[in-house]
Amino acid sequence: MKTNKQNADFLHIGKKLIKWYDTNARELPWRENQHPYNIWICEILLQQTQVKQGLGHYLRFIERFPNVEELHKASEDEVLLYWKGLGYYSRAINLHKAAHQIIEEFEGKFPTHYQDILKLKGVGKYTAAAVASICFDEKIPAIDGNFYRALSRIFADDFDMSSSKAFQYFTDLALLIMPEDKPGDFNQAIMDIGSEICKPKNPLCGECPVNNDCIAYQTGRISEFPVKTKKTKVTDLSLKYYFIKFQNQFLIKQRGNDFIWKKLYEFPMSVPESWEELIINSKIINHKLTHKNMTIEINTIELESKKALERFASENDFIIVDEKLADEKSFPKPLETFYKKRDIAEIGKLPF
Ligand code: ADE
Repeated sequence: MKTNKQNADFLHIGKKLIKWYDTNARELPWRENQHPYNIWICEILLQQTQVKQGLGHYLRFIERFPNVEELHKASEDEVLLYWKGLGYYSRAINLHKAAHQIIEEFEGKFPTHYQDILKLKGVGKYTAAAVASICFDEKIPAIDGNFYRALSRIFADDFDMSSSKAFQYFTDLALLIMPEDKPGDFNQAIMDIGSEICKPKNPLCGECPVNNDCIAYQTGRISEFPVKTKKTKVTDLSLKYYFIKFQNQFLIKQRGNDFIWKKLYEFPMSVPESWEELIINSKIINHKLTHKNMTIEINTIELESKKALERFASENDFIIVDEKLADEKSFPKPLETFYKKRDIAEIGKLPF
């Protein structure tokens, strides 16, 4: 650490955060009990999703899969279905795999120590720290972007958060303010303050319980922190699909386990050259992923017979779905948007 921060006592900052949490914690369904299964699900769900957007999905997921046994018994397709609309579907696939691990390697009991929780598929240091601190009182800071931002402001510390050493650096800094007691409340206080008060833009410093201790605030330099030099590299990607239909049936295939959109269903990406003439409609959809700016062209082809649809399906390994049945499959977001908005026959209601 650049300064001799180790020699000073900053624990009063963490104590203030915990006290603030006592009366200001957001009321959220996973806070009603400290069950590790629920906390694990919510932490995975909230990784790329805001609380507001994730809440409904969380409630439906827990209602359908209330415990690890139910999640273990379910098919991967059904777990994906309950993740529909959230994106980053590998999170759902990993949740399902981890449920198998818990049943098969941990005798059905959720692991109770940070190092064991970390062994679960899809669980990284942040999630393991959140579960271990909230459910098992382990003193481990749950370091994510929110934490980087709050700490860099409190200490007016310009350590580059895009550096590969940032995780260790901010972990050490967090431990300086983290008391022995109530590590779960401490971590959740930072989660709440990071999203509601110490926001990236227009933070509400007047409402912050540690604004007296925050060097950036006290010196009028909030906008200088956090420091991030490297931007995420975004590349362009163009995809072309064919929505091949006959009456109310069309073709889909499940994607593999690599690249983007793992295990989701998609339309054919190539057709015989002569079919290009059969295109009755083309739509372009722009879609952004963290690392990709995507342009997706979807061409609709209306075939003349069921036989033609069946022949293409069997020769190219596609499945034929009825429009209503298609609601039981999970599609990448832009394909789902296309599918829901396309102006052909009415479809049944999506499950959510
Ligand atoms: N964001 C991520 N995890 C959270 C939690 N446990 N409570 C509130 N917001 C969160």
